[in-house]
Amino acid sequence: MVGRGVGYGKIIFFGEHFVVHGAPAIAAGISNAAVVEVKRSEKNAISSEHKIVPEYSLKAIANVLAVMGVKGCYDVSLKGDLHTFGGLGSSAAFCVALARAVADDQGKNPTDAEINSIAYEGEKVFHGNPSGIDNLMATYGGVMEFKRGKNVSENRYERIVIKKPLDLVVSFTGKFGFTTKMIENVRRYKEQDESEFAQMMDEYGDVELNGRKALEKGKLEDIGKLMNANQSMLQELGVSDELNDQIVKLAMDSGAMGSKLTGGGGGGCCISLVKDKVHAEELSRVLEKSGFQSFATRVGKY
Ligand code: MEV
Repeated sequence: MVGRGVGYGKIIFFGEHFVVHGAPAIAAGISNAAVVEVKRSEKNAISSEHKIVPEYSLKAIANVLAVMGVKGCYDVSLKGDLHTFGGLGSSAAFCVALARAVADDQGKNPTDAEINSIAYEGEKVFHGNPSGIDNLMATYGGVMEFKRGKNVSENRYERIVIKKPLDLVVSFTGKFGFTTKMIENVRRYKEQDESEFAQMMDEYGDVELNGRKALEKGKLEDIGKLMNANQSMLQELGVSDELNDQIVKLAMDSGAMGSKLTGGGGGGCCISLVKDKVHAEELSRVLEKSGFQSFATRVGKY
């Protein structure tokens, strides 16, 4: 028997990195997904059409099986159309898809809340100190505001109803982002000047608050401006590298309403907000021509 499961990718409108330090963030699920198939086996193994780090994946498989109380081993195959280049929550989507596939094989029917917390144990292997936002989005999709608690059981999340679906372009810098390293850079930044970091957290708090209101009211221009403000802070933190900055500039010069990195940064992906689907396709082509693999996506249609 083969067990099968799915976990979705995500983009972050506001708050990557700040969310690790306790600020609220707003993310949206995308339709690109990790699809996992599992077959019982003598030992754990992983194969994929995507670029993966097998050691991490094997460790994540072991963690997920342990927390699910499963004794046996699995041959795991990762498929789907969610690229693993960093920023789109692919590791969390893998863990969610894996937990669902194993449950499917075992004839169990865990709740989404259970899947979310199982996946978090796998996600730790990839990100060390993840906030939990990626596994949340991979499990539930939609648009959510998430705030990390002192421990997982104190995490808070709330579904946000946005006024209208939003068209975005997702672009890959061409460089795989290492979220763990970026989280570490931010921690160092914070340690070097606690009061400066606290001030930035305050400023970010306003961006998030106004960002939520703008999303709920469908105010595209405001959303774009606030995304740009968030991007400036990520630059200041040192997690937006040259390639992220290049995409943001290109997108803004080509009429995007806002553009920022999404996820860990240090490469990985950027998102650019545009006024409609036609513009999304156009901008996607412009960015592709400049050498950045891109695709148009729409969020908030749930
Ligand atoms: C990764 O998608 C977002 C980060 O804030 C890490 C995390 O929240 O776990 C960089």
